[in-house]
Amino acid sequence: MALLQISEPGDSPDPHQHRRAVGIDLGTTHSLVATVRSGASEVIPDEAGRMLLPSIVRYLPDGRVAVGYDARDAQADDPGNTIVSVKRFMGRGVADVARYGALPYHFLDAPGMVAIETRAGARSPVQVSAEILRVLRDRAEQALGGELFGAVVTVPAYFDDSQRQATKDAARLAGLNVLRLLNEPTAAAIAYGLDNAAEGTFAVFDLGGGTFTSRSCGLHGACSRCSRPTATPRSAATTSTRPSRRIGGRAITWPTATWATRAGSSRRHAR
Ligand SMILES: Nc1ncnc2c1ncn2[C@@H]1O[C@H](COP(=O)(O)OP(=O)(O)OP(=O)(O)O)[C@@H](O)[C@H]1O
Ligand SMILES: [Mg+2]
Repeated sequence: MALLQISEPGDSPDPHQHRRAVGIDLGTTHSLVATVRSGASEVIPDEAGRMLLPSIVRYLPDGRVAVGYDARDAQADDPGNTIVSVKRFMGRGVADVARYGALPYHFLDAPGMVAIETRAGARSPVQVSAEILRVLRDRAEQALGGELFGAVVTVPAYFDDSQRQATKDAARLAGLNVLRLLNEPTAAAIAYGLDNAAEGTFAVFDLGGGTFTSRSCGLHGACSRCSRPTATPRSAATTSTRPSRRIGGRAITWPTATWATRAGSSRRHAR
């Protein structure tokens, strides 16, 4: 099946060229990088064969930066320098992050966006996200055997302009040429359509790390939902619903972990 080519209304799709491009899902909890080889999309694993990269960045005492599993393992010992779920802070001010409740970080009221005080100095969410993206870029360049031409990066459909701009800035800081930002439910609908040759209207439910979103997406051979005709052979358009920021995966994981810990400890006491 021909790979879907994304182009804005009025743009012509580029002629087919062999350039190394990737898709990056920069998630609240996990991130990953994927590419298309021989017409099939595949996630690029790390050297240990793991597809996911925990979206966690730790600033170490010796000046190095750990990203992913190593950072995650040190989370409990060094919480103030181990930045978890930084996506929540992208393009956000101090008043916004205060709504997340108690967090182990010292936030600085920097212009435009908060910064986090770490042992490596003040780090903006853009800089922290760039560390994650740099690891994914290195992973992709090693697997694909050369420099990347560019990356499509997914963002939540509810991201506003400042959150989208912050994501682009992070990618650029990581040395990535941002081909475009793609809404996460649109990416899901496209993936479904590509795999199943399906057309129609789909409900996409995305239980992410911090939010639960549902959207209705139209995937059509002719661009029935766009206001202007496009040269895109197939197209996807989404209509929005408001995300729930209280029913993310963390809202399930933490109560479950707390319940399991309490149940385990009361059983030990009963013995
Ligand atoms: N293998 C797993 N076992 C248990 N829980 C998991 C597993 N994989 C993911 N989760 C949980 O599911 C939730 C969603 O994870 P996911 O990686 O899809 O989020 P994300 O894509 O990083 O977040 P978002 O899309 O909101 O930015 C998280 O709370 C995560 O901890
Ligand atoms: Mg996600």
